[in-house]
Amino acid sequence: MNEKMMNIKKIALEELKDLNKEADVLNCKAKYLGKKSELNELLSSLKDLSVEEKKVMGPLLNQTKRELEEAFSKKIEEINNHIDYDFDETLPVYAKTGSLHPVTLVIKDMTDILKRMGFTVVSGPEMEKEYYNFEALNIPKDHPARDMQDTYYLSNGDLLRTHTSPNQVRAMQKYGAPLKVCAPGRVFRNEDMDANHETTFFQLEGMVIDKGVSISNLIYVMRSLLSETFKKDVRVRLRPGFFPFTEPSFELDCSCLMCDGKGCPTCKGAGWIEFCGCGMIHPNVLRESGIDPEEYTGFAFGFGVTRLAMMKYKIGDIRVLNSGDVRALNEFEVE
Ligand code: DAH
Repeated sequence: MNEKMMNIKKIALEELKDLNKEADVLNCKAKYLGKKSELNELLSSLKDLSVEEKKVMGPLLNQTKRELEEAFSKKIEEINNHIDYDFDETLPVYAKTGSLHPVTLVIKDMTDILKRMGFTVVSGPEMEKEYYNFEALNIPKDHPARDMQDTYYLSNGDLLRTHTSPNQVRAMQKYGAPLKVCAPGRVFRNEDMDANHETTFFQLEGMVIDKGVSISNLIYVMRSLLSETFKKDVRVRLRPGFFPFTEPSFELDCSCLMCDGKGCPTCKGAGWIEFCGCGMIHPNVLRESGIDPEEYTGFAFGFGVTRLAMMKYKIGDIRVLNSGDVRALNEFEVE
């Protein structure tokens, strides 16, 4: 009886192996486990066996029945989970190839230009220490930029960096002077969102420290950077500004790209477009990072890359850039 049972199991599993339709599996199951199946006949004939034989064969037959039941269920599950793709490799491909994000493109463009000017690209953490984001940048405890409204603080006392300027401190402390670095990166501010404001955007920071670095070096670098970025000869001008980490501080304007400074609706008739904050690095900032302000001077600048990408690719709503929506990104074809 044992041999017969083993044989039934073997044949049933062999037959099951080649099936790939649920209906066929169910038929096969009826054949090997149904009322009229050989296995069922064996189970019925148990009663004719001696008590000793029953004790051995009973459990064995039941186990075989369970094993076969499991094998049939598993096969049905396999069939149902299997998706048969009909693949016709001769069909033409209509899929759109991917493109880089406009912000990525602008960052790549501008860091390439800066690298050609001798800048090294550095980076730092997005979750930053208060020390690097504020203290070391000469931003005292009571400065409005520290207001809870602007800064996302983390439960461990750190924060999400509000600008890329902490990279200045990290670079100075790591490499010392002389130094020529730029640092693109994501920054965070607790802002109300609208078409022009996002809580998350990108900036590009730059700094040059050496003996005898002056404001004219700053003007030259910015003018070259912007002219190469926009592929046209732009002019720049400085207006007085205030940043705790630069002295003097400036707002840098760039001649309007639309009208070349003549005045048009884009620049609201001014001929200039406000471009970035910059200035000569404050002696306190140099000193804090171990650089002697009597020996070295430097300039720094930082601007919003996201805003620049919006200008370049004529994107009216900043939220599109963070939406991650491929359909939206595909709308402005980027090279
Ligand atoms: N970190 C400033 C901001 O987010 C921008 C800035 C201004 C950066 C002046 C600089 C600088 O490096 O010198 O508004």
